[in-house]
Amino acid sequence: MEQTNYLSGAQSRARLMRYDTAVILKRFFFCERALILGQAGWLAAIAPLELKTTLPRLFWQDAMTADAQRSRVFELRYPSRLLAVDDEQPLVQLMEDTLNAPSALAYFWALTEVLKPALLQAYQAYLQMADALGDGPSLRFMQLAARELAEHLATLRANLPLLIEADPAGQPAAEAWAAGVRRRLEQLGGVGLDPVEASSAAYEPLPGRVPFALAQTPARDSRFTYARYYWPDVIDRAYPYGEGLSLQVRSAVSHINEVWAVETGGAILQAFADALGWEYILDAARWTYDESRHCRMGWQRLTDWGFAPAEIPLGSYIYDAAFGQDPVYRLGMLYFFETKNIRRKPERVKKFISYGDEVSRHDMDFDWADETIHAAYGTHWLTRLLELRGDAATDPQVIRARCGELVDQVVQAATPADKAHIRRLADAMLAKAQRLAATSSEAAA
Ligand SMILES: [Fe+2]
Ligand SMILES: [Fe+2]
Repeated sequence: MEQTNYLSGAQSRARLMRYDTAVILKRFFFCERALILGQAGWLAAIAPLELKTTLPRLFWQDAMTADAQRSRVFELRYPSRLLAVDDEQPLVQLMEDTLNAPSALAYFWALTEVLKPALLQAYQAYLQMADALGDGPSLRFMQLAARELAEHLATLRANLPLLIEADPAGQPAAEAWAAGVRRRLEQLGGVGLDPVEASSAAYEPLPGRVPFALAQTPARDSRFTYARYYWPDVIDRAYPYGEGLSLQVRSAVSHINEVWAVETGGAILQAFADALGWEYILDAARWTYDESRHCRMGWQRLTDWGFAPAEIPLGSYIYDAAFGQDPVYRLGMLYFFETKNIRRKPERVKKFISYGDEVSRHDMDFDWADETIHAAYGTHWLTRLLELRGDAATDPQVIRARCGELVDQVVQAATPADKAHIRRLADAMLAKAQRLAATSSEAAA
């Protein structure tokens, strides 16, 4: 007799099947990828230094999440290594289109109020549905991703007022942009877990969209003193890098002025993401995050010693040197100029030890470890890019030489007023450092 009765399979564990899980994680991966590119691309246009140096941590975490999602999709679809957008196209296209916001404020408004909340909602829904036995390996990174996203939202919301302050006139357009993104996302059913509700109509670009272009002039936080050349020795070879107190201050000012490296990391991540692929995005996100930590190290040391932002020069000359250039030169600048001092760093560490300056020593030592990784990133990705462009015969040293020329041109353009200005700022910082050092040694005595 034919069997017609079976044991019940209608258990809550079976809500997400293997194939569905792979489709959903793939969707999440492409959404994360689009948002990583957007955050990185807009970095140079953001003025508030808190946000400029916090965002790289956020998109590096996003990249770690996306990488785990991507690996998991491969596991679930073994042996296929294909990761095509397929049915997720309408949603991914929308996510990618958000890069074309009319302003940095608009980009971050939509990111903070629409895009990241939608992703978080989808992650929470996933965590409720997923089965710990069948899909245990996903749960670990998805739980972490949801926690991190919730923290990102709190951080972004806390920073939004600073962005508004930097661009008060841009607020109505930013709100309208975010509302447009929200409407479009709702039409697709959100990020969600269900199949994307695609209409058969062709994709309509977002209203108010302005094709993305990298900010060639970086936005600077107005609380700091803008000085294109951030220390006198940049434009005056006779000015000493210094020893003792001067070295402590100079080194911290160098660190905070790695702000150009943060912006450059974001710029090249976005510029070469499509050409160089996922592994590159992952490395570039980490690279940018590292530079943001270096910038913060300098800011933190100066703040802890007692310097106010207005006393600190924040420059832009290396970023400016690549104005309007092929972004390969931005990659070259980051690679060659950020790693060229690697050998000096252990020497500096020794000097800081002799001054009893444990914090400068600590920062320099961690910075050194990061730079050795960056040297490997630079060699690998610059070579790969030149190969892809059919310039395999081009020696990366040719790029390096051109980067050097571009920076020299900007240095040559320094005016007597620039020289006097940075000299005044540096002298004031060093005089203050003398006073602060005298007070702290009195206190210690
Ligand atoms: Fe650095
Ligand atoms: Fe670096």
